[in-house]
Amino acid sequence: MTCPAGFTLMPSGQAKSPPQRLLVTGGAGFIGSHTCLVLLEAGRELVVLDDFSNSCGESLRRVVELAGGDAAERLLVLEGDVREAKDLEQAFEAFGPGGSIEAVVHFAGLKAVGESVAEPLRYWDVNVGGTVRLLEAMAAHGCRTLVFSSSATVYGMPERVPIPETAPIQPINPYGQTKVAEEHLLADLRAADDGRGRSGWRLACLRYFNPVGAHPSGRIGEDPLGVPSNLFPLISQVALGRRDCLPVFGDDWPTADGTGERDFIHVMDLAEGHLAALDHLHQGEPQLLTLNLGSGQGHTVRQVVAAYEEASGQSVPVRVEARREGDAARSVADPDAAARSLGWCCRRGLVEMCRDSWHWQRQNPEGYRT
Ligand code: UD1
Repeated sequence: MTCPAGFTLMPSGQAKSPPQRLLVTGGAGFIGSHTCLVLLEAGRELVVLDDFSNSCGESLRRVVELAGGDAAERLLVLEGDVREAKDLEQAFEAFGPGGSIEAVVHFAGLKAVGESVAEPLRYWDVNVGGTVRLLEAMAAHGCRTLVFSSSATVYGMPERVPIPETAPIQPINPYGQTKVAEEHLLADLRAADDGRGRSGWRLACLRYFNPVGAHPSGRIGEDPLGVPSNLFPLISQVALGRRDCLPVFGDDWPTADGTGERDFIHVMDLAEGHLAALDHLHQGEPQLLTLNLGSGQGHTVRQVVAAYEEASGQSVPVRVEARREGDAARSVADPDAAARSLGWCCRRGLVEMCRDSWHWQRQNPEGYRT
């Protein structure tokens, strides 16, 4: 493992009390980097463990720059794999003796639906295997607080919207299966607590709806490898002139204008949801919390295109194509449980999502390689 230049390890003993010391796996990615920024701004000390297979260190350099102050001293970046015991060991020992990690935010994992159909073994190994190894390391180090990245994909084809957490769990692809398996694993850990008493896991499964947007500075954002498959990165590339037009996958869905409807959530709202979940777990009793993180508002593909054109001043030509296999007509969160238990809700709307996405894309047409 290496520590990329520009980051330092805070020597143990010099730490100011009491910022919580956290391990963030996959912290260099899209949601991870925005969450690291929110956590640094909240005064936390972070060790990021990332294998940089789908991200790069530049995102974290910019996170440090945005957080300012002494943020560089509160962020240590380790290149490593959550499936490797020695990499986890180094992460848990990063603050030195007596500087133990109090909680983990676990983003590391694979997330491309199509790829998961082609390579199920890799998805089960990285996602489920990685989470098992991580939980073993946590147990060994007496760290029992975890915020886990789940996904609305666990609902598969929802029968109705908005979707409460109690809706049927029916994943329809290997990626979704791995998320459900990881949720079951956390439920089993929690149940073992109840049976035997005292081990005291504090666990949160956060089911993200459709994370989009970027930090309003335009310095950090979503940087997909290769050809994007999600709506927002594609729209922004069309607005930028890198693609001719946006394929719209069906305009005969049972929605307001016939195009697919989704619950888009600004990545900064999502990042703040992680801080709220950590604080809630920290203060509360051992528990397993399973929450939707979404806005509760649905927007169709055509509505998003119109809002993006307005925000960017660019035209986004579309071409209607056949429905994409595996798509649902509508996916919208019931966000009430998160509001009740975390006191958190989305503060940014579609206008901010489009504005910030455009800002990032225009300033970084080639992502972090710009
Ligand atoms: C997808 C994943 C989901 C994952 C999420 C991450 C699938 C089936 N689902 O959700 O598991 O958690 O990304 O954000 O891949 N659309 C177009 N044209 C395009 C791209 C998308 O019309 O070129 C439409 C889709 O049909 C859909 C909507 O835009 O109605 C959103 O699509 P997308 O951004 O890919 O997200 P999801 O499919 O909801």
